[in-house]
Amino acid sequence: MEWDSNSESDLSGDEEEEEEVEEESGEGLGFMLRKRGGGGLPFPVDRLLQPSPCGFVVTDALEPDNPLIYVNSVFEMVTGYRAEEVLGRNCRFLQCRGPFAKRRHPLVNPTVVAEIRRCLEEGIEFEGELLNFRKDGSPLMNRLRMTPIYGDDETITHIIGIQVFTEVTLDLGPLPGSLAKEPARASDRFRFNISLSGVVSDGSRNIGRGVCGIMQLSDEVLALKILSRLTPRDIASVGSVCRRLYELTKNEDLWRMVCQNAWGSETTRVLETVPGAKRLGWGRLARELTTLEAAAWRKLTVGGAVEPSRCNFSACAVGNRVVLFGGEGVNMQPMNDTFVLDLNSTNPEWQHVKVSSPPPGRWGHTLSCVNGSNLVLFGGCGRQGLLNDVFVLDLDAKHPTWREISSLAPPLPRSWHSSCTLDGTKLIVSGGCADSGVLLSDTFLLDLSMEKPVWREIPVAWTPPSRLGHTLSVYGGRKILMFGGLAKSGPLRFRSSDVFTMDLSEEEPGWRCVTGSGMPGAGNPGGIAPPPRLDHVAVSLPGGRILVFGGSVAGLHSASQLYILDPTEEKPTWRILNVPGRPPRFAWGHSTCVVGGTRAIVLGGQTGEEWMLSELHELSLASSVI
Ligand SMILES: Cc1cc2nc3c(=O)[nH]c(=O)nc-3n(C[C@H](O)[C@H](O)[C@H](O)COP(=O)(O)O)c2cc1C
Repeated sequence: MEWDSNSESDLSGDEEEEEEVEEESGEGLGFMLRKRGGGGLPFPVDRLLQPSPCGFVVTDALEPDNPLIYVNSVFEMVTGYRAEEVLGRNCRFLQCRGPFAKRRHPLVNPTVVAEIRRCLEEGIEFEGELLNFRKDGSPLMNRLRMTPIYGDDETITHIIGIQVFTEVTLDLGPLPGSLAKEPARASDRFRFNISLSGVVSDGSRNIGRGVCGIMQLSDEVLALKILSRLTPRDIASVGSVCRRLYELTKNEDLWRMVCQNAWGSETTRVLETVPGAKRLGWGRLARELTTLEAAAWRKLTVGGAVEPSRCNFSACAVGNRVVLFGGEGVNMQPMNDTFVLDLNSTNPEWQHVKVSSPPPGRWGHTLSCVNGSNLVLFGGCGRQGLLNDVFVLDLDAKHPTWREISSLAPPLPRSWHSSCTLDGTKLIVSGGCADSGVLLSDTFLLDLSMEKPVWREIPVAWTPPSRLGHTLSVYGGRKILMFGGLAKSGPLRFRSSDVFTMDLSEEEPGWRCVTGSGMPGAGNPGGIAPPPRLDHVAVSLPGGRILVFGGSVAGLHSASQLYILDPTEEKPTWRILNVPGRPPRFAWGHSTCVVGGTRAIVLGGQTGEEWMLSELHELSLASSVI
């Protein structure tokens, strides 16, 4: 594990920064662009600041021939070389075609290599482009940037290298004795223009520590700029390399930027609203949300009441408030009342909110949060049967009023479907149960940022088996993940533990089976998959991992066990997450909402007759919020 466990107190940001975190203007890099004495910098820095997955390596400059002591996962993934194969070696092996080549490939520009050598000898920064090769022999263009790191006594102790790899098409013929990729077409030869003067480094550059001629930025600012493109794990690794790097990686603005790159601006914005998050610091928050070392269950007793008593309601978080709508009362009475629980208050209590024009009562519907303080309600089962209407409510309006959104071509009326929101503005609805118990497998999107929102079915070539009671979670900005539910299998219906994902940023999105029992194309999951279930809860963590909990599970399995999956891994694997504290006793029929990005509030759970809404359980993912 890369996180430096000895540095806990240092990383905790005890000496709280008094300065307000700068208001983000999209890039959020103000701290790096500020010159002493104010004013902008006289060069275009935007290009350098684009966050993109980069290779990142560190070498030990005190050892002969600069051996690698760290490579990040992007480096491993792109080059095909695993860390254990390359640590201890000089990085020049990338200039040789494949692991068995003895010599630098003749197409590698010797002028660039000589310039690297010169920069290393003179202890200055290098930036330039040169040809490299993957382990399988295929060529890659590498925009390489190297920055020396000085120790306390002005000697260079480490060099960090950052690699932006791009594809290059060269007809090099097959790699002797290997199953290398098919050679590219001859016509593509040299399509990528390998610049002979691909060196940006400038001989006249100021060499001294503290000033870098090229940018007139200090080494520290430059290093921070490079570091800000890495992942939280990389930064943690870099910080454990040496004292100087550790000092560099303590920068709160750097951590905020790294968190924003890794988790997206929406998530970082939400995390900023967490009381105490500022005190905890971004570095600590990143660490706790990555390692989940501080995750714990705790019980929350809240005041007020949700009356009359009900089940099958729907709840969601709006900032630090939990909102509950509708549900099924006694004698299957569909309810249409709205309750709010403000978890920011000292003594949180359920409050019945008087809202004008309430939608018809219902259960088995979904409630989601969009555009900051707006709630969107879809579908469910009402007095007259199934519904497909959409209502929105601005919770912060002076006179909160439910407003119906009429839209053409809505999805079929349904209940027990699942919903999530994308980009904070789009409602996604999938599956559920239609008239006469027919299960659905469609996916619809409603863009609520439009003046007249229009439903759009997402056309896909293949759909997972139709289902109800599943969950839909968003990760990596525009990807959705479907888990579990009661799924159709021929004439039968089974609880499912299948995971499907779809990337909605693709031109033609399609469902992919990630892991599951018997799905076509499914990899056999390593690890411990959660027993099949429906009516469970799923929580998306910053960075993309999904936590699954509760639900209706067959047999004697414990549904209160927490399972975690990282869909961004090459081969996603379920793991059990053991956290201290007492989970909810009754583990199905829950509803959950994530408040402030770090608190999963679990409501309800069936005791048999009563639904307990005054005793909530909270799975806190970071230690900041108590
Ligand atoms: C931190 C660091 C990162 C480097 N990354 C690369 C790289 O990604 N690709 C590459 O071809 N060379 C890379 N190099 C350069 C080579 O390791 C080597 O220094 C260069 O080929 C010049 O030395 P040589 O003439 O002895 O091979 C890197 C060097 C350092 C210090």
